Amino acid sequence: MRVSVHLDFLPVSADAASAVHRLYLNCPTYIALIGGDTPTLHDIERELETLRHDTRRQAVLLLCEKQVVGFLDYKVAYPDLHSATISLLLIEERLQGQGLGKAAVEGLEARLRGRMQRLFAVVYGNNEQAKRFWERVGFAHLKDSGPTLSWYQKNLD
Ligand code: ACO
Repeated sequence: MRVSVHLDFLPVSADAASAVHRLYLNCPTYIALIGGDTPTLHDIERELETLRHDTRRQAVLLLCEKQVVGFLDYKVAYPDLHSATISLLLIEERLQGQGLGKAAVEGLEARLRGRMQRLFAVVYGNNEQAKRFWERVGFAHLKDSGPTLSWYQKNLD
């Protein structure tokens, strides 16, 4: 049975690299799906450092009862001033399918409402599960940019 879930959003700084790295290691199916190598701790440290220099980009650890259950990477005022774009929502593999992804999207929408009019989600690769998820949480397919990039959109008004 699904219960409603409350997630805390913890902004990520460079010292959270090992927690983010652990999360990736715990999501082997997603890594295989996008056909990449599992990122090293150094890769994550570099990524978080890059992110620190972009004030519009927000990365948060998702916490449920103080335990890390996921990671969310999005950018405000992108691609236009009134929109925000999610580039990655990652829920720890063993916890998927329990409502955490939906709770993360709802939490983000609540944070953005009144500031942003639209929320986009960009799905990379042949990720049909993710596409179904975005549709289930109220997003509509907007366009494909080439064979491996699909944009989904939801109005926040
Ligand atoms: N197929 C069909 N429906 C699905 C699927 C799926 N694979 N996954 C979730 N849903 C539906 C659920 O049935 C549920 O619908 P309901 O509310 O009507 O019952 C709804 O979506 C919400 O499901 P959650 O349990 O909240 O989803 P979850 O916690 O598993 O989070 C997510 C979904 C983020 C895709 C997670 O499975 C994940 O981390 N996957 C691996 C990483 C990934 O692919 N992330 C998305 C990349 S694209 C991007 O982030 C922009």
